[in-house]
Amino acid sequence: MTTMTVRHLSKHFILKEGRRKQVLKAVDDVSFTLASGRTTALVGESGSGKSSIARMLAGLARPTSGEIQLDDLPIKTSRIYRRYVQMVFQDPYGSLNPAHTVGYHLRRPLQIHKIAGTAEELLERVCLPASFAGRYPHELSGGQRQRVAIARALAPRPKVLLADEPVSMLDVSIRLEILNLIDRLKREEDLAVLYVTHDLATARHFAHDLMVMYRGQIVESGSADEVILSPAHPYTRLLADAAPDPWAVHAGTRRDVATRRDGADVTSGCLFRPRCPHAGAACEHEVPVFGGQRRVRCVLHEHASAT
Ligand SMILES: Nc1ncnc2c1ncn2[C@@H]1O[C@H](COP(=O)(O)OP(=O)(O)OP(=O)(O)O)[C@@H](O)[C@H]1O
Ligand SMILES: [Mg+2]
Repeated sequence: MTTMTVRHLSKHFILKEGRRKQVLKAVDDVSFTLASGRTTALVGESGSGKSSIARMLAGLARPTSGEIQLDDLPIKTSRIYRRYVQMVFQDPYGSLNPAHTVGYHLRRPLQIHKIAGTAEELLERVCLPASFAGRYPHELSGGQRQRVAIARALAPRPKVLLADEPVSMLDVSIRLEILNLIDRLKREEDLAVLYVTHDLATARHFAHDLMVMYRGQIVESGSADEVILSPAHPYTRLLADAAPDPWAVHAGTRRDVATRRDGADVTSGCLFRPRCPHAGAACEHEVPVFGGQRRVRCVLHEHASAT
């Protein structure tokens, strides 16, 4: 049984506009755990900080603050960590080196981590023929490349698999196959899976737990069924009502477009209030606290629960 524990994780970027410096809180005080045999979905609109979290968990970006632990190992023991935490990226075209064969991509991690095994065995695990070891990436379809990327991630026998929108660049017809493959491997290898996606339907189907991000913060989390079927945060409700893109449904009213942009300036009170259909005076003055029985970050929800 493996647990990845994330505590108070933040990633701030300093943006310079001429002389002015601005701090962009891409990830702001995020805590959660991933457990073996479970899939946790991370959803939220573009720019909400999902990839930033995945990259820090993979050791590819340094947190501004906070802790990431794999069982008892802190992130600092990076060699062990790099073996046990693997990532599958969105772009199967960019993630394989065109100059090397599939076999080379799969043997490298075996050699680096001194693990017995062959490229052909790994190909079998992802249902590709052994003969693919001699092929170059350009000789594969997008779905086949993603299978190779998954096989490569499996090579070091990881405990945690981070899948950052693993199917969003693939043809719709093969998305489910790839997600089913990840799901089967999760069960067979007892992996803890983080599934980053925009798609609430597959999040609900494949994930046990769900976290909703808005502007760097988790605004709601809980069991995937509960959060999607009875969302407690107004932002989650918008996502659930209008999946896959809330703004596609509300498009056409100029106010929505304008408020979406305006929202970025808000740094006090509830960050979601410029776009929230229920926002009132309390949302301006009170900072919502993440918590409560439903684990939601909303002032109105806090008040409603208190009465
Ligand atoms: N290296 C960087 N320097 C400055 N800002 C960055 C950097 N990387 C990410 N950001 C900013 O951090 C915020 C979060 O980005 P991130 O890529 O984590 O979002 P995301 O939720 O994965 O979005 P998407 O759904 O589009 O993939 C964005 O505003 C982004 O512009
Ligand atoms: Mg991303």
